[in-house]
Amino acid sequence: MKIFTTKNEVSQYLHQLKSAGKTVGFVPTMGALHQGHLSLLAQAQQQASVVVCSIFVNPTQFNDPKDLDKYPRPIEADIQKLEQAGCDVLFNPAVTEMYADNENWHLDIGELEHLLEGKFRPGHYQGVMQVVHKLFDIVKPDLAFFGQKDYQQVMVISRMISLLGLPVKLVMCPIEREADGLAMSSRNIHLTADDRLHSLVLSKALIQAKTGFDGGEALTNIQQQAADLISHEPGTQLEYFEIADGETLREANSSSNSIVALVAARVGNTRLIDNVIIR
Ligand code: PAF
Repeated sequence: MKIFTTKNEVSQYLHQLKSAGKTVGFVPTMGALHQGHLSLLAQAQQQASVVVCSIFVNPTQFNDPKDLDKYPRPIEADIQKLEQAGCDVLFNPAVTEMYADNENWHLDIGELEHLLEGKFRPGHYQGVMQVVHKLFDIVKPDLAFFGQKDYQQVMVISRMISLLGLPVKLVMCPIEREADGLAMSSRNIHLTADDRLHSLVLSKALIQAKTGFDGGEALTNIQQQAADLISHEPGTQLEYFEIADGETLREANSSSNSIVALVAARVGNTRLIDNVIIR
C-alpha cells in the first residue's frame, strides 16, 4: 500500500493512474478502523480498480473539543488493517496540510443540516461537507463509499454532490453489526462493560420499530414505544428516536416512499447513533 501525507503527492499519483484508465474508489474515514470500514473497502474493491482510503480526524466537524481530544487514533493498527484488506493507497494528512488558518466554509443545504443530528451537533455537517469536499478535490474519485450508519451524513453528502454538480457517484453501504446487534463504531471502544450491555437497547428498539411497522402499527405508536424502551434503560439518555422520511428526513407519513427509524443516545459517556430502513 502506498501511503501519502501531502495533497500534491497523492493527487499526482492518482492522476497518473486515472490517465492510464483506472477507476478510483474512495473510502474517507477518521481511522480507528473496524469491520464497518473494511466492508466499505470491500465494496470499493468490487466496483473500482484502485481503492483509496483517507484517515483524517477532521477538527471542523467536532462541536465538542473534548470529543475531538478523546477520538481514538490507532494509526499503526489501522495501517496494518488496510494492508491486510488490500487497500492500494492511504492518504493520512496532518491538520495543517488540510486547513489554512481562518478558513471559511458554508453550503446552504436547507433544513437537512438542522434536523436530527443537526439539533444536537450544530455545525457538524458543515464541517463534514467542508472536509469531504476538500478530499474529493484531492482524490477525484469516480465512486465514494459511505456507511448507512450515519444515514443523515449520506443524505448531506448526496445533497452537496448534486448542488455543486460534483463528478462522483456516492455509494451507501449497509451497517455492520456485532453478533448481539450493536452497530459497529469507532466510539464503541469507550463503552464500559455495563455501557456495552445497555447499548443493546438501541438495536433492540430499532428491530421493535421495524417489526411494529411490518405488523401494520401506526408510526406514532411505534415511535413512542421505542422511545419508552430506551428511556427506561439504565445508564442511557435518549436524544432522539425519529421515524423519518428516507429522502427528506422530515417526519415520515404513510405516503413516504422510504422510511427510516433513526436513534441517538448517550450510553454512559459515549454518544451512539444507529438506524434501520423500515421501508
Ligand atoms: O464518517 C466519517 O468518518 C467522517 O464524517 C468523514 C466522512 C470521514 C468525514 O470526516
